[in-house]
Amino acid sequence: MIFERSILSRIMPSSVPNFAEPEFRYANGVEMWDREYSSLATIPSSHRSQPSHAVKLSLSSLRLRQGSAVDLGCGNGRNAKFLAKLGFEVSALDFSERALDLTQHLIANENTRLDITPILHDIRDGLPFRDSETDLVLDAYCLCHFIDEIGYKKALDEVSRILRPGGIYLKIHLDSSDDYYLQRSIEKRSFGHISYDPANQFLKRHYGAEKLHDELRSNFDLMRVWRVRFDDVVRGAKVSRSVFAIALTRKPHE
Ligand SMILES: C[S@@+](CC[C@H](N)C(=O)[O-])C[C@H]1O[C@@H](n2cnc3c(N)ncnc32)[C@H](O)[C@@H]1O
Repeated sequence: MIFERSILSRIMPSSVPNFAEPEFRYANGVEMWDREYSSLATIPSSHRSQPSHAVKLSLSSLRLRQGSAVDLGCGNGRNAKFLAKLGFEVSALDFSERALDLTQHLIANENTRLDITPILHDIRDGLPFRDSETDLVLDAYCLCHFIDEIGYKKALDEVSRILRPGGIYLKIHLDSSDDYYLQRSIEKRSFGHISYDPANQFLKRHYGAEKLHDELRSNFDLMRVWRVRFDDVVRGAKVSRSVFAIALTRKPHE
């Protein structure tokens, strides 16, 4: 009866899904990301060569141009390339080999040399960088896939650990009013909701910027928020997207 239950949870999004059920067995696993990049291409960012609108907007208004940057969950490398072209030394990290193949391909196809180091690594094992060594951590739609609270908090602590004091955590997030994911909401949480897309088996957290900031207050101070709304096409259907970028600075460690 698992299907009945999963249908029910979509009709009544406040009911709590059981993530141990077979429907969720592969959700957010590396195999699903490999499959996404090798054949499925269900999410627009998997096959987009242009950097995210929100990354471009926020970095140009912060006038950030150089330093060391870590691109968490770099995917096909589109944002890492943008950062490198601005002048950053970029560590492009992902746990999907297929994603890193695409990133390598993108570097190899560029006429100019891009300072990008691809790193195959699972963020759940911590971040492979020294304390305070990084100027910028970009998290474009990556840690939103960490739906268990303990793993998510651990990853945020790692981001804070590797940033220098005053270093910037730039997070790009599909907010809680994004049309596409509102239709796929399966669980309400205090901060917003969790969505589940059966087309690719990805679970994702969605917030408003204020709620997200509340959650990050212990490690970071808020610098600025940008809202980006744009029309998009997901698997042939028009959707209106609602995204925000939030820039935070790392607080000094006690
Ligand atoms: C929605 S995609 C975003 C890709 C890219 N940042 C972009 O904006 O185009 C999320 C990425 O996070 C990566 N990812 C998810 N969980 C991860 C983990 N535990 N460790 C490393 N990478 C992870 C996935 O492989 C995927 O490439």
